[in-house]
Amino acid sequence: EKGGFPSFMEKEIHDQPMAVEQTLLGRLDEKGNLTLDELKIDESLLRSVDKIIVIACGTASYAGQVARYAIEHWCRIPTEVELAHEFRYRDPIVDERTLVVAISQSGETMDTLMAVRHAQEQGAKVVAICNTNGSTIPREADAVLYTHAGPEIAVASTKAFLAQITAAYLLGLYLAQLRGNKFKDEIGTILAELEAMPAKIQTVIDNEDQVKELARAMKDEGSVLFLGRHVGYPVALEGALKLKEIAYIHAEGFAAGELKHGPIALIDEGQPVFVIVPSPRGRDSLHAKVVSNIQEVRARGAVTIVIAEEGDESVSDYANHVFRVPAAPALLQPLLATVPLQIFACELAGAKGYDVDQPRNLAKSVTVE
Ligand code: BG6
Repeated sequence: EKGGFPSFMEKEIHDQPMAVEQTLLGRLDEKGNLTLDELKIDESLLRSVDKIIVIACGTASYAGQVARYAIEHWCRIPTEVELAHEFRYRDPIVDERTLVVAISQSGETMDTLMAVRHAQEQGAKVVAICNTNGSTIPREADAVLYTHAGPEIAVASTKAFLAQITAAYLLGLYLAQLRGNKFKDEIGTILAELEAMPAKIQTVIDNEDQVKELARAMKDEGSVLFLGRHVGYPVALEGALKLKEIAYIHAEGFAAGELKHGPIALIDEGQPVFVIVPSPRGRDSLHAKVVSNIQEVRARGAVTIVIAEEGDESVSDYANHVFRVPAAPALLQPLLATVPLQIFACELAGAKGYDVDQPRNLAKSVTVE
């Protein structure tokens, strides 16, 4: 059932083109409008929402962090992302005009479930983004948008993460369409770009040997840092989490802009630093800023491992290693840039002789608070 792979995690990494494709399937009607049939919430209510709060734990919370950039950009609705266990206990300001989006692969995470109940008690409507049919969170939520990643067995989440980002993006586009804002005319284009992602994810997977080779060479590292900006920031957090979870290596993700405010003090000779570089075609001067962050850490002795778009030569002088991903719109890059980080953690943990599917101290779904 591992499909010939040595672990479920490796199989699930390879399932990702399918996971994204299945999650996108059947979402357009004959008129080319986005339809989310399972989303049985009153449309007038969705039109009047004035705040979105995404609640989740672990990897699912990073999917929420990625989605926030897209939802705010497309919908112009203020969006917060919060760990479910923190949300629940801080007396959050939530009312009938708040849309709470609960993201959970299993649908059984107790922290997330308790946060859902708390939000509903305050009058908020809850949309669940979930991978497990009929599980508790989608049953209690007011609406559900299923990710169709297929069962995820490995404790460390991979394909569910990409499917969660995809589903949250669909929700964002749906809200933009419903509320008739300026992005509604671009929905078709964005959807077409999303539909092109499975083939691009496959390209990243096809180049996995280069990532695996580096992972094996780095198996005795004691600490690895990850830097990203904008949507690359939660990707950095996810890259670090994967390494902690299955390879038991100290790893931390930072917003690259925060480097100079503290973390740069950690950099010394030989410190490995992954950097997720945004598209050079993106908005603002984000790309140039991240390239200068690579320079800064490299100048202090870091070994830089750069994830950059195909053809982006600006990184070559400062990168000890470069992993290429196909060109994609800035907001969609996480669906590509995350993949080498998953492959890296999986291969490195395997090289250390660890059980990548069943890491110590962790459970696939945590049903206690
Ligand atoms: C953790 C798992 O306990 O729960 C993570 O180890 C997962 O992999 C997190 O991301 C959230 O789980 P779920 O099922 O709510 O997405």
